Amino acid sequence: MSVRVKAYAKLNLTLGITGVDNGWHMLDSLVCSIDVFDLITLSKRRDGQVTVQMRGMGAEALPPEQNNAYKAAVAYVNRFKTCGADITVYKNIPMCAGLGGSSADAAGVIRGMGRLYGAGSERELKALADTLGSDTGYMLTGGFARLSGRGERVFPIEASARLSLLLLLPPHGVSTPLCYKRYDEVPSPPHLSGNAVSALINGDIPRLGAELNNALYQPAASLNGDIKTAFEELSSFSPLGVNMTGSGSCVYALFENDEFCRWAKSRYRGKFECIITKSIIPAL
Ligand code: C5P
Repeated sequence: MSVRVKAYAKLNLTLGITGVDNGWHMLDSLVCSIDVFDLITLSKRRDGQVTVQMRGMGAEALPPEQNNAYKAAVAYVNRFKTCGADITVYKNIPMCAGLGGSSADAAGVIRGMGRLYGAGSERELKALADTLGSDTGYMLTGGFARLSGRGERVFPIEASARLSLLLLLPPHGVSTPLCYKRYDEVPSPPHLSGNAVSALINGDIPRLGAELNNALYQPAASLNGDIKTAFEELSSFSPLGVNMTGSGSCVYALFENDEFCRWAKSRYRGKFECIITKSIIPAL
């Protein structure tokens, strides 16, 4: 028996830092899934082993002990005492970009294992996902949500908006721990996500654009000069808003509609990879 799972990337529309607890940064973040996904196939094994093959985007060389998809499958087998699986991850989500690719893979593997073996309630799967990374629990369901705590407290948001987005991808990423460390050296006052959430719920996309923010922008931009360049390049198209996702290095612009997005992409003369996408509510 085998199953296929789509593991969608996410964008942080806001990322506010409200404090520090036990070394972890407490977040207030509005996130959405975007229509960029890794495809994961899983087939049952008769023993307890797990194999993971990564295909594409240079992920092939990732050692298993650093691979969140592998860690997720092993954690599932150990937690629910099931047999293992042969897993292939077809990468499409840009890596080290702040798009949550490795958390998406971990969550996708947990979902897939859940489908293969039927073990684990939603609550148990969420608890397992939370052990694998701050936003892995959110990735199990995706869609619009407000995250708090270190990212593991997920408040789903009912919104019918379909956001038109243009992503710029600098070639090098930013180390997330280093970025938080740089933030600690120059912390900024907390910017809460309430206004952005109301704008989204009311379908007021121009207001949402004005509310985009990310407390990690300055520290990330100080670690990777391309981030500021990408931000300025996108701003030159006068979108509704420009922001960085996660700890970077992907920077994105929110437009009124897909046509403006296509127009901006067709006129983009910079050096960064440029992707048009939209927000999506993943089918579970
Ligand atoms: O959980 P995740 O793998 O995303 O975290 C990577 C690193 O980012 C953590 O080891 C920690 O240094 C930092 N981090 C943090 N506060 C958060 C999330 C991540 O300090 N809420």
